[in-house]
Amino acid sequence: MGEKSLFCGINKPQDPANMTEMEKKHTPVIECPDTVKAGEPFQVKIRVGEIPHVMDEGHHIQWLDIYSRQNFLARVDLTPVFTKPEVTITLVKGGKHRTSTLRVIERCNLHGQWEATKDITITE
Ligand SMILES: [Fe+2]
Repeated sequence: MGEKSLFCGINKPQDPANMTEMEKKHTPVIECPDTVKAGEPFQVKIRVGEIPHVMDEGHHIQWLDIYSRQNFLARVDLTPVFTKPEVTITLVKGGKHRTSTLRVIERCNLHGQWEATKDITITE
């Protein structure tokens, strides 16, 4: 077995500007404002992926974890057939930070964990 297993570590696209079909199906797509106001709720829409991933009994997205940098914020567990791997969540940024990196990790039962990030700016 020469190639690294997809279940070893967290996968990311090798070249985000030129993703393979596997990468397009598994890398989360994060949609939210580039700039948010401290203390004000905003919506983050996440889907897997740029090409929609199947939700069959034998092959599906099991969960999505949402982080702010290394801080865990939320998990959504999914089941096959009756759900789509799409989530809208409301977040609030605040504190002393002027920037934040949202990080989403999803797990496919056949293809392992995949990560995407999005940088946002926080204004007063
Ligand atoms: Fe998959």
